[in-house]
This record gives sequence, structure tokens and C-alpha cells, in this order.
Amino acid sequence: MLGLVKESMDFEFRVGLVPHDVAQITPYFKVLVEEGAGLMSGYHDEDYKQAGAQIVKREEAWAQSVVAKCKEPLEHEYSLLAEGTTLFSYLDLAYNKSLAQMFIDKKITSLCTETLAGPKNNYPVLAPMSVVAGQLAAHLVQHYLLALEHLPGVFGLGVLLGGLSGQARVKVVVVGGVVGLEAAKFLSQAGARVVVLEIDPLKLQNHPYKELYHLEILAVHEANIEYALSGAVGLVGAVLITATSTPKVILKRHLSLMQKGGVVVDVACDLGGCVETIHQTSHSQPVYLQEGLIHYGVPNMPGVVAKTSSIAYSQASLPYLRHFLEHGLKSFLSANTKEVANTLGALSAYQGYLTQEGIARAFNLPFMDPCAVLKSL
Ligand SMILES: NC(=O)c1ccc[n+]([C@@H]2O[C@H](COP(=O)([O-])OP(=O)(O)OC[C@H]3O[C@@H](n4cnc5c(N)ncnc54)[C@H](O)[C@@H]3O)[C@@H](O)[C@H]2O)c1
Repeated sequence: MLGLVKESMDFEFRVGLVPHDVAQITPYFKVLVEEGAGLMSGYHDEDYKQAGAQIVKREEAWAQSVVAKCKEPLEHEYSLLAEGTTLFSYLDLAYNKSLAQMFIDKKITSLCTETLAGPKNNYPVLAPMSVVAGQLAAHLVQHYLLALEHLPGVFGLGVLLGGLSGQARVKVVVVGGVVGLEAAKFLSQAGARVVVLEIDPLKLQNHPYKELYHLEILAVHEANIEYALSGAVGLVGAVLITATSTPKVILKRHLSLMQKGGVVVDVACDLGGCVETIHQTSHSQPVYLQEGLIHYGVPNMPGVVAKTSSIAYSQASLPYLRHFLEHGLKSFLSANTKEVANTLGALSAYQGYLTQEGIARAFNLPFMDPCAVLKSL
């Protein structure tokens, strides 16, 4: 049976499946939903009942053989997972050794939705949340530039991204892929001068938004980082190397070139962040001051746009969850469809082993090749 559990991270109001998508599963699979799981996304227990699910207490939802959720379990929830459970969720495992250890200890099969790879080197279940986070990042840059007291005694610079005619445009720097594109688009639409630091040679040659949004696209190297950050009031970082912790691309010395009082939003903080000075924060206390810059490092940004994000996550992940429930792990892991080139990439732990090599090596934990897992099924 499938348990759909309620999130408990700080201001994490998303739910792993919305009632409309639960209704696609219940005709052939029993779904037990934790009471109140969808409330903050605007879905009542009654909506899930009408979708054919049963509403149960927290412990019962977590005790099912397959547990679906949106964000990784927190330490106080580990004891709720039974040995041998299959967990289907975003996991950010590369930055969470205690979670990896728990997967090993409890022989969890973990299907990590953000590392399901699409045919064009894309991540179809991660992408919608990256779009949400990119849009939010642009809003946050503007918000923390307002001359409000963001921290005791710390006020924003008091500048508007759009500026006014007769004044120099303010500069914001963006590094990253899906998040980066979305942030660049929104920042540019707001009127900022946007410089994008890009490592992908294809995008350097032919960036999809370059002309449309008047972006300045620069290759990532020391001189360009320095040029881009000189005088910038904002930085959005969103670098990703799948299934590893994030490389530090923007260093302390680069930040010293930004305008004091400027804003750093490191969206990649969920996997360690690409800015040297970032550490994770929470929606309750989202920012801190370092190097004279307001730093924002919330790892679950979409949690506060719960309705939009829950619908998007549920819709993007449903086909894979359904495939797993209907056909089992072997079929799921060998599915190479038009939409998904590598479901094997989603397997992050199995039977007491980690199955993503970079993570196993970084944490010094036992590794099993996912192809060997597939062969053994
Ligand atoms: N904080 C949140 O709430 C939140 C929400 C969504 C996504 N994220 C995170 O944001 C990050 C980015 O996600 P995405 O979907 O945009 O990923 P993506 O794969 O679309 O983009 C990552 C980009 O990083 C670039 N890159 C890799 N190495 C680089 C380097 N050394 N220098 C410069 N660029 C480099 C790649 O070329 C790619 O364009 C991920 O860590 C993801 O988990 C966080």
C-alpha cells in the first residue's frame, strides 16, 4: 500500500500528490493519506477521500511499504520508516549523510525524483520546482534590496530593479541552468541589467533568452566572474552537478566586488550551495549578513508556494510513481521511454547500499552499482 505523508520541514507546505492525481492511482492501488497532509496546499481530507484514498494517522501512513512525499524525511521522522520501505521523494541526498546512513541501516529503497534523467540531459521532475525557485529568487533579490529592516539594524540598499530613466541600471548576476534561466528572465523583465555566467558551451553560443531578455552571457572563468560581480547588487546562484554536492563557483573574494548591502540568493544551497559563504537557512529565519551582503539560503523555497508547487510536483512525478506501483522496481529501473532516458539514475539506495557512486564515496558508505541492482532483480 502507498502512504502519502505530511511534510514537517519549516514552512514546507507542499504535498507529494494532489487529490486529482491520487484518483489516478486508487483504482488499482490502495492509498493511505496522513490526516491533514494536503491542508496547506488547499486540499482537505475530504478531497482525498473522494479521490478514493483512506485518511489515516501519521504513524500508519509512514508504515506502508511505499511512502510518497515531497521533501526528504527529517531526523525525527526516521523512526517512522519501517525497514525495507521504498521512499519516493526529492531527497537532496548528496548533502545529507545522516539520511544516507539511515537508508543503509534500514535497507530503504530510495527513488530520488530529482535525479530521474530525461532524454535531453534534463531532469523532468526537478525542473518545475527549479522554475518556481528561479522566479522566487528574482522576487527575493528585489525584496531584500528594499530599505526594510531585514535583520536587526540591517536595511536593504533601497534600490528598485527597474530603476528610473536617467539613472544607471542596477546589475544582477545569475549562475545556473533551469533556475538561472527563470531568474534571469524575471530579473530582466523587472528592468535589471542581467549578466549570466554560463559553463555550457552550447548555451554560450546560442543562449535561448539572450536576445529576448537582453542578457549579457559570459563564460565562467575568473576574469569574467570578477567583471560580472563588480558593482552588482544581486547574485543568484544555482549550479548543479547531479548526485554530488555543489562545487563552490563564487568565492569570498568575488563577493567583495559587489555593492555592500547587496543580496546573495544561493538556490543551490539544498546541495551545499555554489557560493563559498552560503549556509542553509529556513523560511522562519531566511537571511544572515556576511561580507556585508544579505545571504539567503532556504533549501525548500517552493514550500511557500504550496499550491502551485504541489500541483506541479504531483503532475510531474505521477507517471513514474504509477509505473513503479503498477510494474514494480525492475520494470521501473529499466524503463527507457521517450520522456525519461534514465530511471536508474533515480535509485539512490537499495538493500543496505547507496547506489549513487559520488555520494557513497563522499560519505565513505557502501556502494552497489545500480546496474548490478537491476541485474539482481
Ligand atoms: N532551494 C530550493 O528550494 C531549490 C528549488 C529548486 C532547485 N534547487 C536547486 O537548484 C540547483 C539548480 O537546479 P537546476 O534545475 O537549475 O539545475 P540545472 O541542471 O538546470 O542547472 C545547473 C547548471 O549548473 C551549471 N554548472 C555546473 N557546473 C558549473 C560550474 N562549475 N560553474 C558554473 N556553472 C556550472 C550547469 O551548466 C547547469 O546549467 C539544484 O541544486 C537544485 O536542487 C533548489
